[in-house]
Amino acid sequence: MYICLCKNVKCHEIRQCVHEGADNLREVSQCLGVATQCGKCAKDAKQIVKEAKQER
Ligand code: FES
Repeated sequence: MYICLCKNVKCHEIRQCVHEGADNLREVSQCLGVATQCGKCAKDAKQIVKEAKQER
């Protein structure tokens, strides 16, 4: 499922990024570009980061 339409970032890509060591949305943004355009996805992306961190 796409989370960030501006940058074509999917939910699983965010999770993978966190599993590989990204600790917060800023770090995920640096590798995927998520939430760097309109910002509408930031809230959902943040939630996914939070959940993925708990899975590590
Ligand atoms: Fe992610 Fe626009 S939907 S920046």
